This record gives sequence, structure tokens and C-alpha cells, in this order.
Amino acid sequence: MQIQFKLSVMANLFISLTLREAKLNYGNRMILSTDLHVGDATRGAKLYERLLCNSCHGGGVTPGQEGRLFGPDLAGATRRLSRPELADAIVYPSKQVADRFKAQEVRLKDGEPLTGFITEQTGEAITLAARDQVHRVPRSRILAITAQSASLMPEKLLNSLTDEEIRDLLAFLDRGIGSTGATAQEDRR
Ligand code: HEC
Repeated sequence: MQIQFKLSVMANLFISLTLREAKLNYGNRMILSTDLHVGDATRGAKLYERLLCNSCHGGGVTPGQEGRLFGPDLAGATRRLSRPELADAIVYPSKQVADRFKAQEVRLKDGEPLTGFITEQTGEAITLAARDQVHRVPRSRILAITAQSASLMPEKLLNSLTDEEIRDLLAFLDRGIGSTGATAQEDRR
């Protein structure tokens, strides 16, 4: 009875891991094979904002939704990165993280740990850019600083998207982002 139960739990776990991996693989292959010109950049902009990419990368086009820069600026990313690099960056964020964007966890003597990027260090204090604000922390408050191996970019961001939506998002990354609005995008087509 118990063994059977354990087996079925393991089988379920195995199936859900395989499905999860299949879904990520699929997203990765979609990005590798998509023609960046077929999607609709204006619809892609809406997706970019709906998925909150703008909350870390800036570049939103709707007034008030410009977002802020916490991770890398994505203007020109489709040209700067090779296609496999772009696909990995979006689908497997932790696979390769540039040194500048390696996250650190700062444990404090007096409060919740902070996570973000160290942008400045002096003998007295460190400056840490966290997702919502920049902290200046005196060294006397710090217990330990630990490098994180995982990216601060969430995984599975594309899992809820249809193929068409993935194409639209890529079209926006390719020719919409970095411009000031929908009109500028139209001009570039
Ligand atoms: C919680 C913050 C966060 C969100 C939300 C987020 N990202 Fe990121 N992203 C990062 C960070 C941090 C990095 C740099 C570290 C890394 O490479 O994973 C990054 C890296 C990237 C890169 C590689 C850039 C380069 O120059 O190497 C791409 C492309 C990217 N993100 C696209 C997206 C897209 C598209 C979305 C929305 C679907 C998104 N990101 C949502 C934080 C975020």
C-alpha cells in the first residue's frame, strides 16, 4: 500500500518535471526559430508590460508604465546577443549571469536580508540596488554577504504565452523597445 503510494507520488513528480522541462524547451526552440519580423511589436509591448518585464528592464511604452532599470537595459539586446544567448537569457535566466548582474544576499544584524546588486563598496558602507529601492548599508550592520548562483529574473515567464504572443514579444524586443512610443515603432518598420 505504502510502496504503491510512494511510487505514484514519484511517477507524478517525474511527469510534472518532464512536462515543465518540455514546456521550457519548447519556449527555447520557439525563440531560436522565430523570424523577428513576423510578430506585432505593438501587441508585444502590451505583453512586455503585462509580464512586468518593464519592472526590471524599463522600456515600457504606455505612459506611466515605463518601469525602471534594475536588470540590464534591453534596448538592442536582440542585436547584441546571439539568438541562442537570447533564448537562454529569457527561458533559462540562471544559466549564464553577467558578473555585473550576479545577485548578492546581505544578511543584517537587525532585520530582513536584502537581495540585489552591489553597486558601490567603501570601507564604511555598501550600496545595494534591490528591486524596489537602493540601500546604503553601513558595514557595521552587516552579518554576511553571500553571492547567489540563481538569477534574480524569474523563470517560466513565457509559459503562459501562445506561439503568436511569443512572436509579438520578440518583435517588440527587436524593434519597439527603446523607442518613445507606438508611433516611433511604426516608423521603423
Ligand atoms: C524580477 C526582475 C526581472 C523581470 C521581471 C524580468 N527580468 Fe530579464 N533579467 C533580469 C536580470 C536581473 C537579468 C540579468 C541577469 C541574468 O542574465 O539573468 C535579466 C536578463 C535578461 C536578458 C538578458 C540581457 C542581456 O543583456 O544579457 C533578457 C533578454 C531578459 N532579461 C528579458 C526579459 C523579458 C523579455 C522579461 C519579461 C518576459 C524579463 N526579462 C523579466 C531581471 C528581470
